[in-house]
Amino acid sequence: MENMDIEQSESLPASRKEHWDNVYKNKLPNEVSWYEEYPEVSLKLIKSTGVAPDGSIIDVGGGTSSVAETLLADGYQRITVLDISPSALEKSRQRLREQAHKVKWLEADITEVRLPEEYDLWHDRAVFHFLTDAGDRKRYVQVVKQSLKPGGHLIIATFAIDGPQKCSGLEVMRYSPEGLHNEFGGDFELLESFGIEHVTPAKGMQRFTFCCFRRTV
Ligand SMILES: C[S@@+](CC[C@H](N)C(=O)[O-])C[C@H]1O[C@@H](n2cnc3c(N)ncnc32)[C@H](O)[C@@H]1O
Repeated sequence: MENMDIEQSESLPASRKEHWDNVYKNKLPNEVSWYEEYPEVSLKLIKSTGVAPDGSIIDVGGGTSSVAETLLADGYQRITVLDISPSALEKSRQRLREQAHKVKWLEADITEVRLPEEYDLWHDRAVFHFLTDAGDRKRYVQVVKQSLKPGGHLIIATFAIDGPQKCSGLEVMRYSPEGLHNEFGGDFELLESFGIEHVTPAKGMQRFTFCCFRRTV
């Protein structure tokens, strides 16, 4: 079942950026396995943190998801979408049309970036689990620590321990809430965690772990 949703296989392009940009060049937003029409779970968790409408929110690896669009519609004013793929960002910008200027769009690799501001809330659905290299994960955590305000919230969704082993033709890591907490360390308090079953457009089922942490220092 899981293999029905591999976006790309065989000869992978050289770089991470090329890989992801090719995915978005070749697929419609609702053809990728991670597609969801409405980001219900993410939105519910974001709202549960109590982040203010003028709080600054970053969607890391936002791709063509409708998180930014939905947050805008709900009155949030300071939204950033970061992605490694320029094609994904362009598609999202086009979908938002005259609203697009209300969002900051950042094209960057999250393991290499120095973010231009500090955030009250960091959202990542299905990005961290692609970091199979321990050095990349360490750099990701460093970027979170540089850029998330003390008291800020970190919402991360990864494949669960019994989730898929691959996505988009790439190996992934799979996490329990405790495993994810270990990656981020004691400066983060785990407020909430749960599992969900995501149904892909091809009707496959993928188990995810969702965690919401608060940065304590
Ligand atoms: C599985 S998709 C999830 C997209 C979106 N978060 C969602 O839930 O629909 C993974 C996304 O992460 C982006 N991505 C992968 N590696 C990245 C990296 N190192 N830095 C920034 N973005 C990355 C990809 O371009 C892609 O949009």
